[in-house]
Amino acid sequence: MFITFEGLDGAGKSTQIERLAARLRAAGRPVLLTREPGGTPLGDALRALLLDPARRDMAPAAEALLYAASRAQLLHERVRPALARGEVVVCDRFVDASLAYQGAGLGLGEEAVASINRFATGGLRPDLTFLMDIPVRVSRTRVAGGRSGADRIEQRDDEYFSVVRDAFLRIAAKEPDRVVVLDGTRDAAWLEQEIWAHVEKIL
Ligand SMILES: Nc1ncnc2c1ncn2[C@@H]1O[C@H](COP(=O)(O)OP(=O)(O)OP(=O)(O)O)[C@@H](O)[C@H]1O
Ligand SMILES: [Mg+2]
Repeated sequence: MFITFEGLDGAGKSTQIERLAARLRAAGRPVLLTREPGGTPLGDALRALLLDPARRDMAPAAEALLYAASRAQLLHERVRPALARGEVVVCDRFVDASLAYQGAGLGLGEEAVASINRFATGGLRPDLTFLMDIPVRVSRTRVAGGRSGADRIEQRDDEYFSVVRDAFLRIAAKEPDRVVVLDGTRDAAWLEQEIWAHVEKIL
């Protein structure tokens, strides 16, 4: 089973992924946790390039391709082998993030970004995706509280993130069987229960 989490920075993805992993392990299911971009040595090098505020001149198409490259390596090195071993793979961000941040946010077009990602993933799709939805203003507040120094993507303006949020919601509306939209402003314990109820159903 392949599960992904999506949503703006600070939406609560890491918090819920850890809780879900603990529940899966308690239920006796082996779990692989990964994050994007990164999750492999090559992917971590690409992540550093992608998030480095000094790389202001990165072309939108280059950005989309670097994300796709990190994803291709992650699938090759970690995700496909784990799925083949029967593990539950939980990934922090996946193709939907590229459709939203690069396709919609940077204006590359969702079809162009979908197409390079079909190549990168060989068409592998999550069985289940949780979209943690929060307003841009909540994202800003949570991120500001957590750390110092915004990365290259976080430095974009509120209008950009508002386009990204709307794109995530549009993807969810198009694929209601795969994507579960959760109100990320609810408390963490409630969200954990809700997520577990969905995962238990398909286990
Ligand atoms: N349901 C919630 N209600 C209120 N605060 C929350 C909730 N879930 C997480 N937080 C807090 O919001 C902050 C961001 O949470 P978290 O790191 O889980 O988000 P994230 O989606 O993984 O963010 P990023 O994309 O930056 O990695 C943390 O300080 C966390 O404690
Ligand atoms: Mg996180």
